[in-house]
Amino acid sequence: MITAECKPQPPSEPPDEARACHHNFWWVPFDEVPRHMHRCVYGVPYVQLDDATGGQLLVTRHGWRLWEHVDPANWYFRRQYSRRGRRLSEGSGAVYGVPSAVRSDRSIKLIVKFSRMAQDVPLNVSVRFPVDVPQHVLDEAAFNDPFQEFGALEALRNSRFGPGNLKIRTKRPLAIYSPGRRFDPWQLGRKEDRFRRHARQLARDQATREPGTPPFEISIERQYIYLFHWIAGENAESLLKAGVLSDDETAQLVGQVVDDLAAKGFRVLDTKPNHVILRRRPNGELLTRDGRLSYALVDFELLQPTEEYRRWRENSANAGASTATSTQARRASECV
Ligand SMILES: Nc1ncnc2c1ncn2[C@@H]1O[C@H](COP(=O)(O)OP(=O)(O)OP(=O)(O)O)[C@@H](O)[C@H]1O
Ligand SMILES: [Mg+2]
Repeated sequence: MITAECKPQPPSEPPDEARACHHNFWWVPFDEVPRHMHRCVYGVPYVQLDDATGGQLLVTRHGWRLWEHVDPANWYFRRQYSRRGRRLSEGSGAVYGVPSAVRSDRSIKLIVKFSRMAQDVPLNVSVRFPVDVPQHVLDEAAFNDPFQEFGALEALRNSRFGPGNLKIRTKRPLAIYSPGRRFDPWQLGRKEDRFRRHARQLARDQATREPGTPPFEISIERQYIYLFHWIAGENAESLLKAGVLSDDETAQLVGQVVDDLAAKGFRVLDTKPNHVILRRRPNGELLTRDGRLSYALVDFELLQPTEEYRRWRENSANAGASTATSTQARRASECV
């Protein structure tokens, strides 16, 4: 681990050393980073970089290409996400849109979102845009933990279930950062029984990891912060308020999103207009493709695979496993 090369430092200190530690590796291509720094969690490959403040940064392939932007020195330390960023008031959680501090050809904006893992779910299924989900599923609703969420999101993005020509555009998951500071669970609003379910599920996932890599664990005492790529456009709720979309068009759009997700084997328990981003042409018209509004989705705290998808995955895994090796081989093809 790189930690061995970095001196511990109080979390309140400017983390220049932490940054220096990260910089040792960023120039190495993702697949060439030493194996002991790779993690495979719910089928998603990460590189784990530990910093001098006790922080853990888990970077996806998408994030590795944007290394300067995902480095916590450029968005987290000294609360840059709130000082330079804007809190997105539409959401009930803590979500910030943060312009990148890095001067580069690609100017990008990040979404910084604090995980609500193991908190109670204030599930408000919209009366205007009801989602057709059985009541028992709503009753058992739980926020995904960050690794479950990235796992489900990557599975959705790459889903070969359902129509081959249907591709759902989403925000890209870049990294998960867990600062070194510890909290009492109540300070993070976490319920111990809810957390235990996440920990057990993760342990089951990690039991099938490749030999030679340490198991990854989550902690009830640590915060987890997601980093996503910003999607340019306007959400359907604001387009409805601005009179660009009518009530009927908005309801139709939300219905289309629900149907598309189901066709690819997924559902989001709180699908609503402000999770759907649309774009306008310079002349103000909304962008369409094949006669349908072209959209991208955000917010996957409550994303779940459907039963049909789970069965299909199981069957495809069993078919693949007939060549002897099983889950590990499957993992390797996704994670290496
Ligand atoms: N990647 C993104 N690109 C553009 N806009 C985004 C992105 N992520 C979030 N937003 C905007 O920020 C708002 C809040 O984000 P998000 O829905 O993730 O927060 P939340 O707290 O989970 O919200 P909710 O209460 O609806 O569950 C979204 O409704 C959307 O309009
Ligand atoms: Mg949400």
